Amino acid sequence: MAQRRILVTAALPYANGPIHIGHLVEYIQADIWVRFQKLRGHQCIYICADDTHGTAIMIRARQEGRSEIDLIAEMQQAHVRDFEGFDIAFDNYGSTNSDENRQLCGEIWRALRSRGLIVERDVEQLYDPEAGTFLADRFVKGTCPKCKAPGQYGDNCDKCGSTYRAADLIDPVSTHSGARPELRSQRHLFVQLQQLHDFLTEWTQCGEHLQEEVANYLQGHFLNEPLRDWDISRPAPYFGFEIPDSPGNYWYVWFDAPIGYMASTRQWCDRHGEDFDDWWRSPDVEIHHFIGKDITYFHTLFWPGMLKSAGFTLPTKVRIHGFLTVGGEKMSKSKGTFVMAQTYLQHLDPSYLRYYYATKLSPRLDDIDLNLDEFAAKANADLVGKVVNLASRSAKFVRATGLAARYPDDGGLFQRAAAAGDEIAAAYEEGDYGRAMRLIMELADRANPYVEAAAPWNLAKDPRHAQELQDVCTVALNLFRQLAIYLAPVLPRLAQQTGVLLNKPIEHWADSQTPLVGTPVAQFHHMLKRVDRKDVDAMIEDSRTPSAEEPVGEPAAESAPAISQPLSDEPLAAECTIDDFAKVDLRIARIIAAADVPEANKLVKLTVSLGGDEQRTVFAGIKQAYTPEQLVGRYVVLAANLAPRKMKFGTSEGMILASGSGGQHVFLLTVDDGAEPGQRVH
Ligand code: 2FM
Ligand code: ZN
Repeated sequence: MAQRRILVTAALPYANGPIHIGHLVEYIQADIWVRFQKLRGHQCIYICADDTHGTAIMIRARQEGRSEIDLIAEMQQAHVRDFEGFDIAFDNYGSTNSDENRQLCGEIWRALRSRGLIVERDVEQLYDPEAGTFLADRFVKGTCPKCKAPGQYGDNCDKCGSTYRAADLIDPVSTHSGARPELRSQRHLFVQLQQLHDFLTEWTQCGEHLQEEVANYLQGHFLNEPLRDWDISRPAPYFGFEIPDSPGNYWYVWFDAPIGYMASTRQWCDRHGEDFDDWWRSPDVEIHHFIGKDITYFHTLFWPGMLKSAGFTLPTKVRIHGFLTVGGEKMSKSKGTFVMAQTYLQHLDPSYLRYYYATKLSPRLDDIDLNLDEFAAKANADLVGKVVNLASRSAKFVRATGLAARYPDDGGLFQRAAAAGDEIAAAYEEGDYGRAMRLIMELADRANPYVEAAAPWNLAKDPRHAQELQDVCTVALNLFRQLAIYLAPVLPRLAQQTGVLLNKPIEHWADSQTPLVGTPVAQFHHMLKRVDRKDVDAMIEDSRTPSAEEPVGEPAAESAPAISQPLSDEPLAAECTIDDFAKVDLRIARIIAAADVPEANKLVKLTVSLGGDEQRTVFAGIKQAYTPEQLVGRYVVLAANLAPRKMKFGTSEGMILASGSGGQHVFLLTVDDGAEPGQRVH
């Protein structure tokens, strides 16, 4: 097979937050693909970088009283450590705040200018008067002007998919300060994407570069009408690169971020004596971008448009995956399912997660659900029970003799597994890792009965069976090694340990086709321990952060789903006893004062009376649904014996009962006439 030259990227993580298990879906997905290609003998490089520019970093650095450079350097270190911890092996990990990136941005910019793609005009942009900065689209939230879904970002609506200007949002709020932004007029620079419409239609719809549902989505949402100009500049103050021919204006972070793929490649080329143009201006190179579905727009329209205009190689494929849910729900800090990479690693082996994600990944865009029971069961049943067990039950019996000099008769097991190699490889190539894992486990299911039946632990008891024992263990260890080779892209540590055990490093996929004979066998060292459910629970417990971000009474969902089916959206909780129920002391309360908390998006400060002099202060996440005037005098139901909770704006001494999905969709329970403040609700 001819050697392919393949450049793989994963989306550049923002430098303003740590890596969590949601991010890891993609970095692991791409890492598996790269390791697979390398194992097949292709030249494949895995390129990534930190995405460092934009308002968020600038504001955070300001809040922390340090420079952006200092902040992004610290984040980069943390990201690199997290990726290494999960065996994600980038060939180069750069930064968008690099000289290489500034220079490439300039080059692409000049190309866009010379093709007449840039226009300038005044735009009104939202300005945060408290933070003293213009607001990037992602830092404004409000109600979608089209479908009226609340809690949408300023660039596009994740409910109806429409894009709009941040200024068009209904009731916008700055996510930096909670202030209501003002409109201010400013000169901006735009890329006239419409000039590339025909090219983009051809490129997206030709069936080669995108998953079919992505191509259809682009056709139905963007390409069926003239493409809007893309606002590519931001006025000072902005942390980024100043546009050389437009002083006081900076390239918008989404302009320089994908160019970061190239800049990071250039650093790799410089270190390896390779020519950058051989990678980004060569028809012989394949470029594969792995991204999440939320950034489809940027990678399938703007990015190919920019590359085309500047004469660079276009992506071979943009491989788009869905989001991670945990237990069927969005990751949640209060539920402890928003697990940071570091927290995971403090409790669990990375191989479990790599394998679990592999079993779930396909070429489709479906969301990937992490079910913690299944996670533990798969690691234990498949990896420990079916794979590692093959070695742990046989290696010690050939420690003295090594593998047999000739491969014994195994009833065709090795040959059958060798023949499955092509199908497994095809599944990896397509990104259908779930299928690859199923095929591999089928092979394990055939190997295990062989070992069970041959029972080397019994043969070992009688020296007259020495030859048979060596033969059986030679078969078992070869079947094990074959699995370790097929699993090597997913489980690099297991592959490495197997190489040490059998004194032959796993270096090539083709190693799976020929049995290993006559080699010494090293001392068997424990390879992978069983997942203990207690460790999983401890990880969840450590990830639980009751904080002001999810205040009392505020539902987790930021925005109401367009069509809600309450029972399926939030299934009934596990059964509880009447005694469990009685632990929560529910009381009738009368709201005697209600005050806006100006710094908070969602909170109202309530003073409630429980009769007599008994009063409580409660912060309730109902600001978008009720005005203070509507609340004063109302009778409500209060969970009155909750432990007081310190929040950013004061201590909350209870919780007001309400239903709904959040934002404007919050509904307080009503109390019938006659009930008195302080009465218990049974
Ligand atoms: O969505 C994100 O997290 C961005 N930081 C991804 C950038 S990918 C690329 F274009 F740089
Ligand atoms: Zn909408």
